[in-house]
Order: sequence, then C-alpha cells, then structure tokens
Amino acid sequence: MKFFIDTANLAQIKEAQALGVLDGVTTNPSLMAKEGITGKDNILKHYVAICNIVDGDVSAEVIATDFDGMVREGEALADLHPQIVVKLPMIADGIKACKYFTDKGIRVNMTLVFSAGQALLAAKAGATYVSPFIGRLDDISTDGLNLITEIRLIYDNYGYETEILAASVRHTMHIIDCAKLGADVMTGPLSAIMGLLKHPLTDIGLAQFLADYKKGN
Ligand code: G3P
Repeated sequence: MKFFIDTANLAQIKEAQALGVLDGVTTNPSLMAKEGITGKDNILKHYVAICNIVDGDVSAEVIATDFDGMVREGEALADLHPQIVVKLPMIADGIKACKYFTDKGIRVNMTLVFSAGQALLAAKAGATYVSPFIGRLDDISTDGLNLITEIRLIYDNYGYETEILAASVRHTMHIIDCAKLGADVMTGPLSAIMGLLKHPLTDIGLAQFLADYKKGN
C-alpha cells in the first residue's frame, strides 16, 4: 500500500519523508489556503517545493471547472515537474479532461469521488488514481469504507489499472481498514500515519529491555 500525506505543510511533508515511508503527497485548494499559500505564482512555486522534498507523485489540483480551462491549467501544472499528477474534479468536463490528459501521457487523479459509478467512469477515462473521500461519507452517516470495497470489486472484475487512492482519511483505523480492503494508496494527515506506530506494549517492553540492560552494565 502506498502512503501519501494529505497536506501542503512543508514541515509535515519533511517529517513524513524523513520517516522513510512516504510515497507521495496530495493537496487541494483548501489545504493550500490553510498554509496561507495564495496567488497563482505562489501556489505553483509551492508545488515545486513539495516535489523537491519527496520522491513520489504530487497531486496538484486545477481550479477551472470547464474543459478548456482544465486543459490549460493542467498542462501548466504538468510542465512544472515530472512528479506532478493533475488532479481533476469528478464532473463531466473533468472526465473529458481526464481522457485528454491520459491520451497525452499526463497522469490524472480524479478527485471528489463519492460513488462506485463515478469511480467506474474515472477508470474508463484512464485515470491513474481515483480518490474516494471516505471521511466525508462517514460525516453524512454513509459508510465510506464500503465505497472502497465496491470500487475494488469493480476494478478487479475488469482489470482496471486505475489505483484506488483512499482520500479524506481522518485517523489511523481508516488506514488499517483501507489496507484490509485493498486500497492501493491512502492519503491522510501525518497524525494518522504516526498513529500506526503506537502501542503501549512496545513502550513498556522497550523500557523493560533498557532497565534490564542497565542492571547488568
Ligand atoms: O484527500 C482529500 C482530503 O483533502 C479531504 O479531506 O478531511 O477535508 O474530508 P477532508
């Protein structure tokens, strides 16, 4: 399972990269705004800064909602760095743009996916990644993890190569459940990734080992 971090915070991206388990980064306009990154030029520079920290894929989202605008923005984003994956919204023009970019060899992450039908369309349009938002489904009393199960089944039925990128991951158990269900990638906050480390028996055991070592040395 690939681990992406879902943030535009450079310090957190560096921390995850230093841990040695980071495969990529996802961002969105809200995450950029949260870090105070505004204005087209600053946003583009920030994507390059992220690419220079990590080795893997960096999803960069278009703002346009029409085909021509998405193509214009997406081409500019893809030109920034070879690690950039163009992130497009799951609307009709987004699917058209996905097909356009895929035919040109530019990788796409289809975002804001909330149903199996949307995920099927993304795969047919050749998306490299499809991003079902599991946390936001949970927020409205709908089982987000069930969507991962449905998409896995459909993609396996037909051998679609689009990778299921579980997004809107909010906590550590989401990561474990997505791994059990066969998501190819998860993107979540640093806190959810670090939560995988935690076990009280590890801490107790380590303290005991060190105490016993000290007794004999
Ligand atoms: O990866 C999608 C993500 O940025 C949305 O997460 O927590 O705002 O639903 P959230």
